[in-house]
Amino acid sequence: MKILIIGDIYSSSGRLMVEKYVPKVKELYNINFIVANGENIAHGNGITERYYHFLLDQHVNVVTMGNHTWGNAEIFKFINDAKVLVRPLNYPEGTPGVGYVTVKYNQTTITVFQVMGRTFMNQALDCPFQATEKLLKEVKSDIYICDFHGEATSEKIAYGYHFDGRVNIIVGTHTHVQTNDARVLSNGTMYMTDLGMTGALDGVIGVERDGIIKKFLTGMPVRHNPMESGPKQFCGLVVDIDDKTRKVTKYDIINMVE
Ligand SMILES: [Fe+2]
Ligand SMILES: [Fe+2]
Repeated sequence: MKILIIGDIYSSSGRLMVEKYVPKVKELYNINFIVANGENIAHGNGITERYYHFLLDQHVNVVTMGNHTWGNAEIFKFINDAKVLVRPLNYPEGTPGVGYVTVKYNQTTITVFQVMGRTFMNQALDCPFQATEKLLKEVKSDIYICDFHGEATSEKIAYGYHFDGRVNIIVGTHTHVQTNDARVLSNGTMYMTDLGMTGALDGVIGVERDGIIKKFLTGMPVRHNPMESGPKQFCGLVVDIDDKTRKVTKYDIINMVE
């Protein structure tokens, strides 16, 4: 089974790249299953019902979110009906939405979940490690795919080692910068610290750069306008999992710029 996982899709540039490159990558690699991070798809902040359906129309099977889950208030209107939308699993009990979904592909059950890191994230969160232990105990699945949404590389790497051999794929999101450390860990887990962003290349992690530079120079607050001009990127990872052994047999880093 060939799985494509797409990093944070940012605003209209990100949507354009999804429309253009998902069909190409799908054909090139014979992709069977797609996971995409949609926390920035609506003007850089959150998701709307329209963009959730846009991703499903692009053959995305599961949409993950992150710290911007509630960035667009429209989510409260449709989150209970969005069957394949996943927000962080380690939000406190009672938070709207779900932290994982189990989807059947042919005879294989695939559980996609997301945890959010607690280092430098400034959010009220339960422990991502313990939340995952609980999930693995309670939800039986042939394949587990984890989107670890976090800032600190150390936290993501520690999590990767801790769940090596128990979660088939652990990939990071949130920093919007692709890391060069994709590898299969010693017990078989496909690991990558961050998939990178899908959107404008020349902004500051998706945002129009002049304002951000000014913010760093002056300390004054600025409006975060998405960067919509110039070159764009499509970032993610393709993972090939053997249908019988469930072992990762091959992977390809996706980083396309135009
Ligand atoms: Fe993001
Ligand atoms: Fe994020």
